[in-house]
This record gives sequence, structure tokens and C-alpha cells, in this order.
Amino acid sequence: MSIDKVFLKNFRPFTDLKLDLSNNNLLLTGVNGTGKTSVLEAINVLITGKSFKTRDLKDCIKDKSKGFLVDLEITKDNGIFKIRAEKELNKRISRKGKGGTSSVAKKDLPVIQFIQAKDLRMIEGETELRRDFFNKAMFHVEHNAHDEYKLYKKTLSQRNMALKRKVSEKELKIWNKALIEIGNILEDTQKRFYVNFFKDTLENRREEKKGNPEFLNTIKIHLSKGWPADLSFGDAIAKSSQKDRALGYTSLGPHRLDLMFYTESKLARSVLSRGQQKLLILLMFFYFNDVLKSQIESEIIYLIDDITSELDQESLEIVLQEALALNSQLLITAIEGKNTENFGPFLDNFRQLNLSK
Ligand SMILES: Nc1ncnc2c1ncn2[C@@H]1O[C@H](COP(=O)(O)OP(=O)(O)OP(=O)(O)O)[C@@H](O)[C@H]1O
Ligand SMILES: [Mg+2]
Repeated sequence: MSIDKVFLKNFRPFTDLKLDLSNNNLLLTGVNGTGKTSVLEAINVLITGKSFKTRDLKDCIKDKSKGFLVDLEITKDNGIFKIRAEKELNKRISRKGKGGTSSVAKKDLPVIQFIQAKDLRMIEGETELRRDFFNKAMFHVEHNAHDEYKLYKKTLSQRNMALKRKVSEKELKIWNKALIEIGNILEDTQKRFYVNFFKDTLENRREEKKGNPEFLNTIKIHLSKGWPADLSFGDAIAKSSQKDRALGYTSLGPHRLDLMFYTESKLARSVLSRGQQKLLILLMFFYFNDVLKSQIESEIIYLIDDITSELDQESLEIVLQEALALNSQLLITAIEGKNTENFGPFLDNFRQLNLSK
């Protein structure tokens, strides 16, 4: 499966942009603000219905126009498949297979692995980045996880509302019970996913690789479940109820899950350089590809924004080698200039497209 053609109309800075990707990996270059990230955003909006940059898709409509349109042509084993996303100012986004069907079947769409600048700050950045990475991967692999997560979040917001309303002890107990019930289910799923799929992926894969920088071999990732390790979720909620009342929200639970990165005995964020962190995260995404491929039917397409920044030539070549070994279509962006020289021998694997010209 590959995305062969992209057409954008009135999306962000583009009035009309046609890209032909036919069976190729694409390297989009351009100076700042030429729309490289916007192209990746458009593809992501079309496949997932959502933007990573804004909650309101109106922001993606080109200034002074009334709506945007994104068309993709996807080639699959059984033919060519066209889909279109359309958004008008005051209407919800519509996504259709061309030919008129009102909904797009999930199995016809590729899974997008979108790696953005903020993901690459995951180690030193906010907890949400690490949690999102873990949860998104889990949703692909554990088929009930998404529904469990949704129900947990709904129950969580009901309990938070009860805490804000300062309800009676008796009523709070009812919400505690409901939250503990779904929280325990979600905790089991998170733990199962971590143990079966997540924990060893990095370690096993890097053992097969010789010649990676030494620091990679020392990295360990621990799961912090979102409340004190020695307590069950039920006991933790019971213990924190008075504190939660004072705060007006639920201070612990599986929604507070975190990943801790260590090198030897130190926290990775306080030891690793920016470039080392970026290399580690990119490899983590790539090493996870085998897990995804074994668990999902759709093919995976990688959108990687601003791949070159902060990586020296050696690191960039490691990244590109691993990326090409995924055997998935790659759409990557890089700021124009000397960065693409660092692609070395790998440049030939990409169709280059410069948006500044
Ligand atoms: N709704 C919109 N209408 C018109 N122009 C827009 C709209 N939203 C964003 N833009 C413009 O589009 C460009 C967005 O660029 P984008 O972030 O895709 O650039 P980029 O090539 O990724 O840049 P960088 O190298 O800095 O990451 C900016 O110049 C911005 O001002
Ligand atoms: Mg950009």
C-alpha cells in the first residue's frame, strides 16, 4: 500500500498543491514556513479526521477562503482507492471514498505513524508526550484498550465533577467504586501491553544491531503506573480521597501513567544530549514497527517532520538506514540547505521535492 497522489486545495498556505509520490519515499524540503509540516498535517487530517496542531479544523482553511479539500490516491493490492476530506467553515469535516460511499472503511486506510518535533522531545518534555506514545501504540495492539480508555476517562470526569460539587461521602463512594472497577480493567490492559510488547522491544532489537552508539545499550524504560507502586488502585483511591476532595480532581490513576527513561542509574533526561534523545526516540518508533505489523492488518506509513535537525551525519545515517529498512512508505521533511547533504548515500532513496521553488 502506498499513497501515490496528494492534492490540497485551500489547505493552510496552499491554494492548489499536487504531489505525485508514486511508489516513492518523499523528502519534502523548503525554507521555514513553506508548508512542509502542513502537507503532513493534511495527510493526517484525511486519514484520522484530526489535526495534531489544532482542535479546530477551521484553522487549516486557507485565509479568506471558505473551505479546504484534501484528496489522496492510495494504491493497494486490489486496485486504486481514492479518498477525499472536505471541510467548510461552519460544517463538520466529511471524509468519503470517491465513488460516493458515505463512510471510509478503516481497513482501506493505512495506519499513520506521525513523528513530530514534539514527540522527539518526549524524554525531557511533558508526561503527556510519553503517555500519548504509550497509549497510541497500545490502542493499535490491544483491541479493547481504546474503549476501556474512553470509559475510564468518562468515569474519571464524572468523579471529578462530583469532587467539585463536594458531594457526600456516600455519593463519592459510588463514584470511587465505578472508577476503581474500570481502572482495574485498564491497568490490566496497560500492564499486559507493557510486559508482552513494550518492555523488551527496545532491548531485543538493539541487541541485533551492532555499531549503534554506546549510550543506546544502556537505556532502560520503566513503567510508572500513575500511583504508588506498592498500592492497588482501589487502595490508592481510598487513601487519596480526602486529598482529591481538597484538590477538586482525581490526583492518581491509570490516566497518570508515565514512562521513565534511564541510562545506567540516572534519568536519561538529565544525562543525554538533545541529539542523543532524538536518535533514541526515532529508533524506538522504528523498533516498534515489527510489533505493529504483527498486530494490525493495515499498512503503516511514516510521516516524519523535520528529521535532520539536531542530528549529526552519523546519527542521521543510522536513522535513515533504519527508516528505509521498515519497508513502509516514508514521507519526511527537512529544512532546505546543508541538512540534506547529511543524507549521504541515502538521498537516492527519496524523491525530493522543494516547496520553496
Ligand atoms: N490557515 C492558513 N491560511 C494561510 N496560511 C496559513 C494558514 N495556516 C498557516 N499558514 C501559513 O502556512 C505556513 C505553515 O507552514 P508550515 O508550518 O507547514 O511550514 P514548514 O515548511 O513546516 O516550516 P518550518 O520549516 O518552520 O517547520 C506558514 O507560513 C503560515 O503562516
Ligand atoms: Mg515545519
